[in-house]
Formats: sequence, C-alpha cells, structure tokens
Amino acid sequence: MIVGLIAGIFLAQIFETPEINTSFNFYKKTDEFQNSYESKNYSFTIADTLKREVRILCWVLTNPKNHKEKALHVKRTWGKRCNILLFMSSEEDAELPTVKLNVAEGHENLWLKVKEAFKYVYKYHYNDADWFFKADDDTYAVIENLRYMLYPYNPQTPIYFGFKFNHYLKQGYMSGGAGYVLSREALRQLVEKGIGNPKICNSGIPEPEDFEIGSCMEHLNVTAGDSRDFTGRGRMFSSDLEFHLVPPKFDTTFWYWSFKYYKNDDGLDCCSDLAISWHYVDPYLMYIMDYLIYDLKIYGLLQTPQALPAKLKVGELLPEPINQPADTNEDSVDDEDRFDNATMYRNDSNLSSIELNNILKLKKDADA
Ligand SMILES: *[C@@H]1O[C@H](CO)[C@@H](O)[C@H](O)[C@H]1NC(C)=O
Ligand SMILES: *[C@@H]1O[C@H](CO)[C@@H](O)[C@H](O)[C@H]1NC(C)=O
Ligand SMILES: *[C@@H]1O[C@H](CO)[C@@H](O)[C@H](O)[C@H]1NC(C)=O
Repeated sequence: MIVGLIAGIFLAQIFETPEINTSFNFYKKTDEFQNSYESKNYSFTIADTLKREVRILCWVLTNPKNHKEKALHVKRTWGKRCNILLFMSSEEDAELPTVKLNVAEGHENLWLKVKEAFKYVYKYHYNDADWFFKADDDTYAVIENLRYMLYPYNPQTPIYFGFKFNHYLKQGYMSGGAGYVLSREALRQLVEKGIGNPKICNSGIPEPEDFEIGSCMEHLNVTAGDSRDFTGRGRMFSSDLEFHLVPPKFDTTFWYWSFKYYKNDDGLDCCSDLAISWHYVDPYLMYIMDYLIYDLKIYGLLQTPQALPAKLKVGELLPEPINQPADTNEDSVDDEDRFDNATMYRNDSNLSSIELNNILKLKKDADA
C-alpha cells in the first residue's frame, strides 16, 4: 500500500499542472509590437492582409471566478490576435476588461447569457467584423488559420462553422468548447429573426447552449458548415490535442464517440496542418502552445504559404473534402476502426434515448 501511495503521489506530481502565478509578467519585450507580425521579422504580410480582409470578433464566455484563472490567459495568448476581443461575464473587471451582461451565473443560465452576448455584439459591433467567433475560456484558437478557412466565404452567406456534432438536429450542431464562428449574416438573422421568437430559438428551459444555438441556426436555415480541410482532416476540435494525437485507450462511454459528425484519423493524421481550435486547454498549456506555434522556429527552413483560394459568391460553399487520408490511409487507426468494438454508436437510431442521455450527462460533467 505504501508503495502504491508513493507511486500515486509521484504520478500526481507529474500529471498535475502547476498553478499559474497571475502576477508574473508573461509579456515578452517584443510584445509591445504584439499586433504587428513584422516585428518578429516573419514574412507575415499575408497574415496581415487577412487580418484586414477577414475581420474576426472573438467573444469569450467566462464568469467572475474564471476572470483571473482562465480568461486573463486567453487574453495574453491567442485572444490578442482577434481583431476585437470581448469577455462576456456577469461582473465588471477592468483588467480584462469584461462586458457585464445582466444575467445570473450558473449552468442553467448559460443559454440566456449566450443570447445576451450575441445581442450585445450585434448592437455594438455588427459593422466592425465580418465573422463572430464564440469561444469558452478553455478554448485555444489559432486565429490566423481561422481567417484562412473563412477567407473564401462571403460573410453575407448565412453559415456557421465549428466542430460538428451529429445528434438531435438534421444538420448537426457545433461544439461550444471548440468555439463556433458565425458569418455576419448568420449573426444578423440570429438576433433579428431568431432570439425572441420562440418558434426559432428556445425561450424556455434550455439544453446546453451549443445545442440551442444549433437549433436556432437550423430553424433559420443557416448552414452548418464543414470546417475540415481539403484532405478531410479536422481543423476544429471538441477535445484536446493529446486526445487525437496520442489517443488514450478506447473508452466506449466517452461522449465523443457518439457525438462527432465526421470520422477522423488518430495520430499524426488527426489534425490539419492548418488546424484552428481545441477545447479543454488549461492556461498552463496555452502558454506552451503559444510558444510552440508562434515563437519556436526551425533554423534554415523557410515556408512559402500556398496561394489563397478564390472567393465564393454569397450562398456558395466549397465542395466536400475528398476524405483522404481518412478512407484510404490504413496506416493509422481511425474512428471507424474503433467503432468495430462499439457499433451501437454508429448512428442515432441504434442508440436508445436513455443511453444518449447518459452520454449527454457525461459530456455535461466534462464541460462543467
Ligand atoms: C509571482 O510573480 C511575481 C512577479 O514576478 C513575484 O514577485 C512573486 O513573488 C511571484 N509569486 C510567487 C508565489 O511565486
Ligand atoms: C528585424 O530586422 C530588422 C532589419 O533587418 C532588424 O533591425 C531587427 O533587429 C530585426 N528584429 C528582430 C526581432 O530580429
Ligand atoms: C427555412 O426554409 C424552409 C424551407 O425552404 C422555409 O419553409 C422556412 O420558412 C425557412 N425559415 C426561415 C426562418 O427563413
């Protein structure tokens, strides 16, 4: 028992992420130029152009307890790359700063809070951005790659993108944790036609906010877009990077398996080279990801970015990815291989509502 206890303490030390000292100055000396890519002497002119052409307003769902523990670290890492960054909370905080919404905190009020947040964004920032990205305070996002994905789309097309779940709705809905992004037209329809009309958006006892937004979108005929890259690899993820990159032992009860819409490879084929977002990223990892993505370089390697795609007309969508390597590359394990042990998760009709509710409860617990 003593050996077990010691081993346990030892393992806990390895796996427990240290608490972050929020008073520490995380900014690098060059961060006074944080919005100018040239300061790092990167050839970032394309990213700069995209920053002007594909303007993204990010709004982060947070609460007073998380202002310092989580939201502040979003601001210091990925959040600063958005054209506009807002933190939606129920209390004022000058340091972030926050938008104080007139709603109570708590899981049961999340849907109300999300509706109020979108109304605020529509009222004060409709003309300041082309796309409106909602994220949680444990989301990590690469905004440059989000701009690249959105570049061909016309913001007047009623569409939204995220990590797609396959349940409950015909066109599926987007994970709240991976973040979802609405075109300007989708935002307009949501606020002008959806919120406040109980036939379109739920005004009663809510399910999770991500489902509710998805339901509004389906009723509004706003398309649930496909965020995969042209090879079929995912770009937005409802789980953390490790889960896909170094997959854990298969657990049929984990909600992911019944909720994902597209299949996905495990291992190095899991994620697009131009991936955009992950969920369950604690502040500690946000700094590590920021360093690995934005600062660490390989001496002597220069990268020439591929040409930008042609712009689409209003209402036009890109064709479906050709699903490679997911269908053809059997060198790596993929979701379908894992399903062999859990065929009941293949589709809705094989899953009883009790089973689905159990899985949904596990998912809610994980998100809470
Ligand atoms: C936190 O960081 C500040 C500023 O660097 C430092 O003065 C303080 O001692 C640190 N606190 C702890 C508990 O390490
Ligand atoms: C970037 O290049 C300029 C001009 O060559 C140089 O003066 C400057 O020190 C460089 N900055 C960095 C951060 O390397
Ligand atoms: C969505 O499309 C359907 C079928 O075309 C139509 O009946 C419905 O009125 C549309 N909904 C809205 C809110 O425009």
